[in-house]
Formats: sequence, structure tokens, C-alpha cells
Amino acid sequence: MSLDKHFTPKNFSDKVALGFTKFLRFLADTFFKKRYGHRAVVLETVAAVPGMVAGMLLHLKSLRKMQDDRGWIKILLDEAENERMHLMTFIHIAKPTLIERIIIMIAQFIFIITYAIIFIASQRTAHRIVGYFEEEAVRSYTEYLNELEMGKIKNISAPEIAINYWNLPLNATLKDVVKVIRDDEAGHRDVNHSFADIINSKIKPKSETNKNKEQIKDSQTLKENN
Ligand SMILES: [Fe+2]
Ligand SMILES: [Fe+2]
Repeated sequence: MSLDKHFTPKNFSDKVALGFTKFLRFLADTFFKKRYGHRAVVLETVAAVPGMVAGMLLHLKSLRKMQDDRGWIKILLDEAENERMHLMTFIHIAKPTLIERIIIMIAQFIFIITYAIIFIASQRTAHRIVGYFEEEAVRSYTEYLNELEMGKIKNISAPEIAINYWNLPLNATLKDVVKVIRDDEAGHRDVNHSFADIINSKIKPKSETNKNKEQIKDSQTLKENN
């Protein structure tokens, strides 16, 4: 799995997703600076939201339309569970401050509503956003890893919960944990970008067929007028 993959925005929906992500990245960078442990705790509380919201909305849609979900619901709910395990791990590494706890509560409230609205308005944009979020997550965990490798952050032993969840050796360290988490993020990135691609490929032919229909109509009117 390639770590520093970037999906180049191809249309308006992709550009909105990238702009939204860059804006949030800027906020996170300004607030956390190099406090990677705290950054991980706070951002993982947000990262576990989209999978659950998207999974729930697709579940309801599947019921409503009595249509198969092509296995997407399970993938999204698994993503949410995996992100929650990242949080359960990092809470053993950094304890959030009072202000961070308040931010977490406000952020959850705002993010559930915002993400649900985006998903209902454009499922394609919603998956693309997560794709871009995860690109940033991979980048941040690489920076975290660099700090650990340079000895700027103490490479403590891995929390037991992480050793059990990822089947790590008993002498695993924080570095090993950050590496497996980064792999998870790269996985979510690829899944969500490909979900957006699949939806995109379905939207495209439709607009192209509409264009073709319009062209046929135009040529017919031309003929009739002649
Ligand atoms: Fe995560
Ligand atoms: Fe993530």
C-alpha cells in the first residue's frame, strides 16, 4: 500500500472536498502544533464519525428502497469501529485537557450534523472528503513517527489494548502502534476515494447520455425546421 498517495481533484465536488479538508487541517495545525498525542486523541474522536453516519444513512436507504447495499454498509461500519479503536489506543498515550474535552463535545455535535447533510446532498463529495481526511491522517502519523524516530517524543511501550487489537509482539512500542494505525488510515483513504470514484462513474454516463439526448433533439428540431 502506497503511503503518500494523493488523489488529484478532477471536478467541482473533489475541489470542495479538498478545500474543506485543507481548511480543517489548517485549524488542527494551528491548535495542536507538535502535540501529536493530543492531536491524535481529539482527531480520532472525529474520525470515527463519518463511517457510522454514512453506514447508518446507507442502512436506512437500503431499507427504504429495498435495495442491496453491495456490502458498503459493513465496510463503513468497520471503518468507524477501527477509528474508535485508534481513539481507545491513544487515550492511553495522551490524556485530553479540559479545553480539548470541550472541543471534542462541540466538534462531535457539529460534525455529525454537517457530515450527514453533506452525505445526503452528495454522497460522492462525502466519501471524497474522508479520502482527503485520511490523506492528511497518513501525513500527520508520518510526522508523528519522525518525531519518535528522532527521539523528540519518548517511544514508550505499546498500550495493551493495541497489542491485542493489532496482534503486535508483547515488546511492541508506540512506533509500531503509529505504523499500524497509519496503515489503517491509508486503507480508509483508498476505500473512500474508490467509493467516490464508483459514484462518479455512475453520474458521468448519465450527464453524457443527457448531452447525447439533447444533441439528438437539437438535430431533430433542425431537420424539422428545414
Ligand atoms: Fe484513525
Ligand atoms: Fe482515519
